[in-house]
Amino acid sequence: MISVEHTRKNNDVILVGIDLGTSRTAVMTNRGFKDIIHSVVGYPKDVIGLKLVGKSQVFGEEALRHHSALTLYHPLEDGVVREASKSDYNAAYELIKHVIEQARQGSGDEVCGVIGVPARASIINKELLVKLAQDLMSIAVVVSEPFMVAYFLDKLSNSIIVDIGAGTVDICGMKGTIPSPKDQVTLLKAGNYIDERFESVILQRYPEAQVTKNSLRIIKEQYGFVGTPPETVKVSMRVGGKPLELDITEELQLVCESIVPDIIEHLEAIIRGFDPEDQQQALLNIYLAGGGSKIKGIDSFIAGHLQEYGDVRVACVADPDYIGSAGALKMATEVPPELWNQVGFLS
Ligand SMILES: Nc1ncnc2c1ncn2[C@@H]1O[C@H](COP(=O)(O)OP(=O)(O)OP(=O)(O)O)[C@@H](O)[C@H]1O
Ligand SMILES: [Mg+2]
Repeated sequence: MISVEHTRKNNDVILVGIDLGTSRTAVMTNRGFKDIIHSVVGYPKDVIGLKLVGKSQVFGEEALRHHSALTLYHPLEDGVVREASKSDYNAAYELIKHVIEQARQGSGDEVCGVIGVPARASIINKELLVKLAQDLMSIAVVVSEPFMVAYFLDKLSNSIIVDIGAGTVDICGMKGTIPSPKDQVTLLKAGNYIDERFESVILQRYPEAQVTKNSLRIIKEQYGFVGTPPETVKVSMRVGGKPLELDITEELQLVCESIVPDIIEHLEAIIRGFDPEDQQQALLNIYLAGGGSKIKGIDSFIAGHLQEYGDVRVACVADPDYIGSAGALKMATEVPPELWNQVGFLS
């Protein structure tokens, strides 16, 4: 938890909650604005690119659409801003600035906000992110994503948040305070890892298949599952130029399940980190968030692997795309900005 102190000059403030993710950034404001964009910034490669897109920087979907004309930056590639890279820092800065400009909707009012970042970035990139937030908003705090999820759910104590994102899975034990580094763990096998594995198993089985990681990601997002297959997954793909209908049920199951063993191993370590009298309650309050929580059957699959602990309840949060920014906005609204860096749980 990092805080930036400033003096608030007027009462007419726009409060924003931002969830700065590796793959997508969500924002919500106290004036009802809500949006989610891909965390990517593109700069035209040359004058032709500039002419094509008509501006010197492009964000989100628009940047992905014009990818061949642009140099693209994903500022939080592995859940952190690479400090050595000036362009990563600039891209992160421009991305947050863009998101805030959108969220303002033309208003000149002061903006105060809570920015959630991957747990690893909240530890490794502390100073950097504070500086960034400080430059862009009057009052700002930077918190780790799992904490915002717990805040939204009102589960700040004896609960465990498992945020399955693109670059990282963050597991965080909530003990009524800001989680210390030993209460959280970041695993680098997450959504992107599934996509890479998926590509390699498909190419292993069909060496001539014409697939892209992006098209496989879309298939994963539509059909991804673990445990008993809910349906046979058949997709049409071109193999050696010819369209073929392929049954990829087994491959998809294999790759989706590939991230689970690490999650279980570290979940167990986090459970052991609770006081023995609190462990039972923590086991009944395990919440899955992040885009990866939409993999079908993942809640019961994880619960099944924790059987020997007795009563266990694993639940997927209702709106994984917005829960982080909703938690950030909730915090921004409930606690007056002047107190953000004084309130016990935020200090
Ligand atoms: N329905 C779905 N089934 C399986 N995976 C999905 C689904 N929807 C999204 N995902 C995956 O979830 C990941 C994105 O999740 P999310 O938006 O929570 O990431 P993020 O917050 O940007 O990343 P991180 O938390 O690592 O910073 C991507 O890998 C995406 O493919
Ligand atoms: Mg995330």
